[in-house]
Amino acid sequence: MHVGIIMDGNGRWATHRGLARLIGHKRGAAQVKKIVKNCPRLGVKTLTLYAFSTENWKRAAHEVEGLMKLFRGYLANNLVELHDKNVRVRFLGDPTALSPEILVLMEKLRNLTEGNTGLQLNVAINYGGRDEIVRATKEIAAQVASGELAIDDITEARFSTFLDSRTQNDPDLIIRTAGEMRLSNFLTWQSAYSEFAFLQESWPEFSPEVFESTLQNFHSRTRQFGAVVPKRSELAE
Ligand code: IPE
Ligand code: IPE
Ligand code: MG
Repeated sequence: MHVGIIMDGNGRWATHRGLARLIGHKRGAAQVKKIVKNCPRLGVKTLTLYAFSTENWKRAAHEVEGLMKLFRGYLANNLVELHDKNVRVRFLGDPTALSPEILVLMEKLRNLTEGNTGLQLNVAINYGGRDEIVRATKEIAAQVASGELAIDDITEARFSTFLDSRTQNDPDLIIRTAGEMRLSNFLTWQSAYSEFAFLQESWPEFSPEVFESTLQNFHSRTRQFGAVVPKRSELAE
């Protein structure tokens, strides 16, 4: 099962407690560790975390700097543990705007964990669904122009291999914390048939127990993908 999470509400969590927004982001980073650890037990094979959107650069410079510092810290401090836990880490998003220090750590983590067979962890940094589709389209256009790819070979399946998520399965469930009911440019293409869970808890409050009950709710849903799936009672007749 693939779960995507829009980790929202760090700022509000801190503000409500009279703390600086960055303290909320710090709590949020600690929360990532806890949730990643619980994935194998909960049957989550792929976890995609929205860490920083292409729109988040619009925030105050000190908040952006603070967030970048936190990513750096997270990547540096969790490298060994993620590898020990057999987690395979990939990154989604446009890396070109990120600092060289962060890029080096991302590459190191990606290479180190490449052969791991446990949880597939995707971290979306400087990620925007529309930006991802535009970058994919440019790559496709270049291949068509060079004669490497024929227009008729552009199918949905082929298109998705040009996205940052490449050949990974689409998210089955997308969770957003902190009460907002929108995607904010997360997995625009991949979410076409995802289920959604919008929770009131902010990201620092998103405990493994809340995660588990959200997954239980997901498992009780019927997914149709456009077809009509007969109810269990109808099948018994
Ligand atoms: C999510 O928390 C973290 C990032 C977007 C990086 P927010 O910072 O958006 O928190 P709120 O929504 O302002 O409470
Ligand atoms: C979405 O949250 C981005 C991340 C969680 C990384 P935002 O807080 O940036 O989204 P909006 O601005 O409320 O839509
Ligand atoms: Mg927010």
